[in-house]
Amino acid sequence: MSEAAICAGRSRTTWSDPGEGGDRQFSTRAAGGIAVCAGVDYREAGPLRNACMSSPPSHARALPPPRPARSDEAARLWALRTQAVRATCISHYDAATVAAWSASPLPESYARMIAAGGAVLIEEDGELLGYGIVDLDGAEVEAMFVDPARGGRGLGARLMAEIDAIARAHGLPALTVASSLNAVAFYQAMGFRTIGEDAYAHPCGVSLACVRMHKHL
Ligand SMILES: CC(C)(COP(=O)(O)OP(=O)(O)OC[C@H]1O[C@@H](n2cnc3c(N)ncnc32)[C@H](O)[C@@H]1OP(=O)(O)O)[C@@H](O)C(=O)NCCC(=O)NCCS
Repeated sequence: MSEAAICAGRSRTTWSDPGEGGDRQFSTRAAGGIAVCAGVDYREAGPLRNACMSSPPSHARALPPPRPARSDEAARLWALRTQAVRATCISHYDAATVAAWSASPLPESYARMIAAGGAVLIEEDGELLGYGIVDLDGAEVEAMFVDPARGGRGLGARLMAEIDAIARAHGLPALTVASSLNAVAFYQAMGFRTIGEDAYAHPCGVSLACVRMHKHL
């Protein structure tokens, strides 16, 4: 698993593709107990939507279009990631964990993944609204971050649709993600299925609980 984000890299846990019909109930324990995203207990989420996101969702059509990120924008992306971890992920991780996690430096892997064409961003009037990165070598979503002030407006879904399209264009049949606890409901809505709970030993010294997820493209 890379440092890029908790939605990042190879797991040290062996897991198997659940295959069709593999969506199942799960529970994830955050520091304060069972994770509840934005007031919604995702244990009670309905059937997963596995529709491919090859076109933008209807509520995202008014958004500025995504564009590929450039290699010289890595630090700009990382700054938004740091902001999003502090403002959004704090709902499911304790303050000390978020402080250590968010203070970690830009990983070298960002430059490689951006150069490979795996990074997209949405900006408006020069302001970065969100970005996503897929590791095309590992077929894994490495980053998905939206400006905390712009959450819930379809930006994440638009970025995910673009990441899916990039992955398909590179011949990837499926994607995985190690989702932060706060983002599980988002990835469910994006068609991912839960594989299991995991923990990532972050280079900053904390153990980050996450949920391994998978979807066919
Ligand atoms: C996760 C994140 C990228 C979602 O971005 P967003 O722009 O708020 O998401 P969208 O508005 O596009 O939502 C897309 C769908 O996911 C659902 N969703 C998103 N966050 C949700 C939440 N916390 N609880 C329940 N559903 C959620 C939305 O309801 C929407 O479903 P719909 O299409 O049925 O309406 C954003 O919250 C974020 O940056 N979080 C912090 C960083 C992070 O944890 N990233 C993931 C690392 S693995």
